[in-house]
Amino acid sequence: MTRNVAGVAISFALGFGATAFAQENPFDAVFAIMTQDRGRDSPGCRGCHIGEQPAFGPYFGNTQDEVENGIITYDGGRLIDGGRDSILANYLREGVMPLGGTQWTDCQLELLFLWLDAIASPYPIIEAVSYSSPMR
Ligand code: HEC
Repeated sequence: MTRNVAGVAISFALGFGATAFAQENPFDAVFAIMTQDRGRDSPGCRGCHIGEQPAFGPYFGNTQDEVENGIITYDGGRLIDGGRDSILANYLREGVMPLGGTQWTDCQLELLFLWLDAIASPYPIIEAVSYSSPMR
């Protein structure tokens, strides 16, 4: 089968849905890092945010799909808002997370950024989250 250059260009133009279909999910590589068991020598989050049930800190899920969705939708998208400048990116870049583990390398961070580029706007869209209760 010959490579259809026009088809490739069209799937890029169609955006995320079409590219996700045509290519592997950029979260694959990120999940491969995150799903490692937590530990002093590990860049992983499993055993805290990832596991069969909530363990320690905010819960993201267990399977790859659950974790991707869990991070994206957590608190209305607060963790990924801002993309490369999001809470998630900054915590990993600065080594705040993984708590008690090994800081992500530049190479691992680059994989995170590629995923964030695909799913998050680089411009923060959440100005403030209001917790005011309708009861009060
Ligand atoms: C040893 C357990 C542990 C490990 C391992 C760990 N975390 Fe955390 N994480 C926590 C806890 C506990 C908090 C809550 C801290 C707080 O609220 O002050 C937290 C908070 C966070 C937050 C901020 C949540 C918020 O509400 O702002 C992010 C983002 C995060 N972790 C990402 C990760 C990622 C990604 C990994 C793996 C690469 C990871 N963490 C590994 C325990 C852990």
